[in-house]
Amino acid sequence: MCGIVGYIGKNDSIKPVIEGLSRLEYRGYDSAGISYKESSDIITLKKEGKLDNLKSEIKKHNINSKIAIGHTRWATHGEVNDVNAHPHQNELFAIVHNGIIENADRIKSELSSKYSYKSQTDTENFLNLLTSKYEKLNDVRSAVLETFKEIEGNSAFVVMCKLTNKLWAIKRSAPLVCGIDAATRDLYISSDPYALVGFANKIYFPQNEVLCECDPSKVNDEIQFFELDGSASHRYELQKKDLNLNVSEKGIYEHYMLKEIHEQPTLIKSLVDYYTTGEGLESLKSIDNKFKRVHIAACGTALHAGYLVKNFLEKENKVPVQIDFASEFRYRNPLLSSDELGVFISQSGETADTLACQELCSESKLKTLSIVNVEGSTLFRDCNYNLLIKAGVEIGVASTKAFTQQVLVGLILSKYLKNELNNDDFKNELSSLSSKVNEVLDRKDEIKQIANEIYNKNGFIFTGRGDHYPIALEGALKLKEIAYVHAEGYAAGELKHGPISLIDENMVNIALVTPDLFDKTFSNAQEVKARKGIMVIVGTENNEQLSNIADYYFGLDYSGLSSTKPVLTNVVLQLLSYYIAKLKGTDIDKPRNLAKSVTVE
Ligand code: F6R
Repeated sequence: MCGIVGYIGKNDSIKPVIEGLSRLEYRGYDSAGISYKESSDIITLKKEGKLDNLKSEIKKHNINSKIAIGHTRWATHGEVNDVNAHPHQNELFAIVHNGIIENADRIKSELSSKYSYKSQTDTENFLNLLTSKYEKLNDVRSAVLETFKEIEGNSAFVVMCKLTNKLWAIKRSAPLVCGIDAATRDLYISSDPYALVGFANKIYFPQNEVLCECDPSKVNDEIQFFELDGSASHRYELQKKDLNLNVSEKGIYEHYMLKEIHEQPTLIKSLVDYYTTGEGLESLKSIDNKFKRVHIAACGTALHAGYLVKNFLEKENKVPVQIDFASEFRYRNPLLSSDELGVFISQSGETADTLACQELCSESKLKTLSIVNVEGSTLFRDCNYNLLIKAGVEIGVASTKAFTQQVLVGLILSKYLKNELNNDDFKNELSSLSSKVNEVLDRKDEIKQIANEIYNKNGFIFTGRGDHYPIALEGALKLKEIAYVHAEGYAAGELKHGPISLIDENMVNIALVTPDLFDKTFSNAQEVKARKGIMVIVGTENNEQLSNIADYYFGLDYSGLSSTKPVLTNVVLQLLSYYIAKLKGTDIDKPRNLAKSVTVE
């Protein structure tokens, strides 16, 4: 979703801000803008569409500036256009904002007679309120604090003022970091530490409602923190060790998604080492395992991984598990007890609904555990225990490698709790999984061929049973998000309770017919075939029953795999979605309307 980058220092401010914004492009956005200070003027340039549009605009100006703030906007209030893009500026201030101001209408009704509104955004309410506070207080820091106190909802703001060479940043339940390059003393602010890699080598994570004031003139004390009452604050964390945030390049691949799919065999292997010998083992050992029940909450792909984690914990560990969409869990007054464990699965660690569930569980005195990719993210910092999925930076908006790693970390947790993590059978299974994923990648032309045959059909129903039901959901989600076609995932046994009426010669059924519950799933596939549906079967290899009814058949060798079969099947579906999307000509890495990190509810 929206991205923020700010710079203040001795050097050109435009380069790091634009570089930071381009690193945040993967999060999804629909317009971009920048405000910079030149002499004592603030100049704002902003453009609808891709960052390239803004870059072209910047090229028209001969800029000499040492202070800038930039923003990529994912529209919430007001349509996508240049005016609604951030930053928003008036005679005194320029600001950027991530999140939603929930009391925007009330503020506007109080201020609109005195201050002008140029855009349809909620953000301008902060700008006008700030101006009104400044007129009374004549001090920017106090004005920012007083303004923020009146803002309801979860947001992050960065403020630049025409009158001083400082930047201010403050947030409530929205990601925000600031950093310093210890050598040059240049200062940075961002909504994502990834934007600061290679620029700042000391990164601070302020807590909610702590103001960061960046002032390069304060030698050795350039970043200061303040509470809402103006007193000095110590509620921030300094990054303790190097964050694992290497900048990712596409390399030989046409898209990040394809590259990330190909990273999976290596990632699977290193995950095993990490959890059996490395730091990962220490994080498993830190978990107090005396919980009576588990609550899992997550969104989208991470939730699908959660369904498998639930199956592992219930089947293998006999622990009851409740699982919910994070957006539902938070509002359904779940029955929570302090002898239970909250488990939150997230690639970004910044998903607003998932964070709210973690908070809810913490308030009810549950211990909380994250299965998370981004070390240092809000979820990572807020949970009692963290199991990193070690997927590296995931740039493609459609989550692929993170799903695989989330499922495997759930399985590793389950094995650890059963004292079976170091069993050779388990280690061999993961090593075999890694090789089998490689084999699937080597057969990608077969998958491309199937995509060629079906990509222009009307609709797609993915079906599976048991551990393959979440894979049916995940396969359908991946296809709809990147290929923009209607796709649904169903438990195979549910088809005849309604959706089977959709089956005709234009409807594709991607049936996951695998060794688990083979006979049951096979008969569901036959029901579809009898109604002339186009049958794509992904599952047990070299099976005559399957080849007889399949229009297209992709067989998999599941030998040696037990709980990890669904991970292997899913790789086929990842590639199938990828090739269908490619044939449709969509923007695969940045599908329309989507954001990588969903920081609003
Ligand atoms: C789909 C996808 C989303 C995310 C969801 C949760 O490919 O990526 O469904 O899984 O938005 O995001 P995280 O995992 O960052 O909490």
